[in-house]
Amino acid sequence: MGSHEVLTGSVSYTLETPDMDFWPIEVSIARAQNSDEDIEVVWADGCTSIYYPFWLREQCSCTDCHSETTREALIDITKIPLEIQAESITLDEQGYVNICWSDGGHKSRYHPGWLRANSYDDWAQKERVSELKTWDNSFSVLEFDGVRLLECDDHLYEWLTALDSSGLTLLKNVPTTKGSIRKIAERIGIIRQSNFGTLFDVVSKPDADSNAYLSIGLPLHMDLPSRETPPGLQFLHCIVNEAKGGASQFVDGFHLAKIIKQEAPEIFKIVTTVDYSFQNRSVDCDFRASGPLIRLDKYGNPIESRINTFIAAPIINLPHDMLKKAIAAKHYLLQTMNEPRFKVEFKMQPGDMVAFDNRRILHGRSEFYPNTGSRFLEGCYLDRDDLGSALRMLERKKRRIKSGY
Ligand SMILES: [Fe+2]
Repeated sequence: MGSHEVLTGSVSYTLETPDMDFWPIEVSIARAQNSDEDIEVVWADGCTSIYYPFWLREQCSCTDCHSETTREALIDITKIPLEIQAESITLDEQGYVNICWSDGGHKSRYHPGWLRANSYDDWAQKERVSELKTWDNSFSVLEFDGVRLLECDDHLYEWLTALDSSGLTLLKNVPTTKGSIRKIAERIGIIRQSNFGTLFDVVSKPDADSNAYLSIGLPLHMDLPSRETPPGLQFLHCIVNEAKGGASQFVDGFHLAKIIKQEAPEIFKIVTTVDYSFQNRSVDCDFRASGPLIRLDKYGNPIESRINTFIAAPIINLPHDMLKKAIAAKHYLLQTMNEPRFKVEFKMQPGDMVAFDNRRILHGRSEFYPNTGSRFLEGCYLDRDDLGSALRMLERKKRRIKSGY
């Protein structure tokens, strides 16, 4: 165990940082000093980080400022003057930055790995931005082993990284028993329940409460746009697929957004700004939500789509002229989305499980014929948050090992 490390059951963290993470020291600090009214850290590789003193004071990792047990803040920042300054800044033998503050002489000690990981200068922010890679019909869906990832964290990490970046992955060799999907989902997080239950069976049934449970072809769609926050992830595990037809189809909604922006900017403006409404049809619940067909972040990048033709609600929130434009824009988007240049299609085999970002990837299936054989898929939802947390925990574990804890 390293110095100042807390180990409780399976939980391990160091008190040297104001979090529960581990930050290997990959670049050491050459010097640290006051610079104008800020604190400057010059790294051995020549980069410089500037920290606002109040920002650093708030992140003090001592157990008066952050609880030893929860690592949540105890510090009352309203008691810290905004103009707080460092009275002295020194590097100790381990290369940590020690600061004595102007306000009451509080002492803080900063871990170089943590300082580097939390640097917010332009160069550091740029290093953290990853370019979004989108795909068209030439995409080869990456495959992973549904048994191996239960045992092997490295394989799990490879799978989740691919799911995060491309939005669609395929697992092979998932045991064809009902409930196998649960074990895989629980490697990531907690399954998100919905009006379809915890696990849902995608099978043709007489009392269908969704078109998904008929044998008709299902147009490309996302699930549950009728929820304020639709599920971020969807898993579908193929247990039996003997019926003729029933091929699975996928389109990258973010690629579609990119192409529509290039080819039809006026349409793009409407589908990214007008709220379209959705409502589920059910005898026992009535979820409704609305939003643009493609939602953008503040930089103009697509962050989610809300596309589904079979649970769209009538547009009743727009004046007639705008309503016509909104319908025409949706019509254009749907026609474009169905062009072959976007679509990846394959028939799932027993033991296959697709995992995809439900708010990015549109999915559909061709019609199948129940009188030619059975078709049975089991599905569930999780949220993007669960994927993000699982990835960060796996990365934390790697950093912990690298840090020598
Ligand atoms: Fe669906």
